[in-house]
Amino acid sequence: MYIFRDFYQNEVKLSFNDHPFSKDPKHVLVICTHKNKWLLTKHKDRGLEFPGGKVEENEGARDAAIREVREETGGVIDSIRYIGQYVVAGKGGTIVKNVYAAEINALLPQTTYYETDGPILLDVLPGDIKYRKSYSFIMKDDVLKYCLDYLKKIK
Ligand code: GTP
Repeated sequence: MYIFRDFYQNEVKLSFNDHPFSKDPKHVLVICTHKNKWLLTKHKDRGLEFPGGKVEENEGARDAAIREVREETGGVIDSIRYIGQYVVAGKGGTIVKNVYAAEINALLPQTTYYETDGPILLDVLPGDIKYRKSYSFIMKDDVLKYCLDYLKKIK
């Protein structure tokens, strides 16, 4: 397990075990690739980030991941796998988030991208995201680094 602080100094615990913190997490983050590019979205307030969000009532986390990718990017998922889970102890409460890795086989234009500006494709993820205003705070802690390292390892 990895323990570190996020952008707002909240404690984060990240693990690549099978649902170590909650069997029923209420948040999801999906690391998406499409044709050898990274697929992100631009949240209207937070900035650039991988798609994700909250699990709805009577919805499973995996289904939420598939839905959020479609809503925020128009992405149709070819394959998706659970890779890990993290817990953030925030001032307003604790949240548990599942991380998935997904390969997207098509981007279908949507009439709305909800609270985002839609799909953003990147050849590379900059190494200095932490210092870039255009990126969301959720991309600015070690969750991203450890997840990308883990993905490289299991490839
Ligand atoms: P809305 O209800 O959608 O307006 O969002 P919210 O920001 O109030 O709630 P949410 O439940 O999404 O998140 C609650 C808090 O948890 C946020 O303010 C963050 O402090 C923290 N949080 C949520 N997701 C992440 C994440 O991926 N990484 C980190 N480090 N913190 C997160």
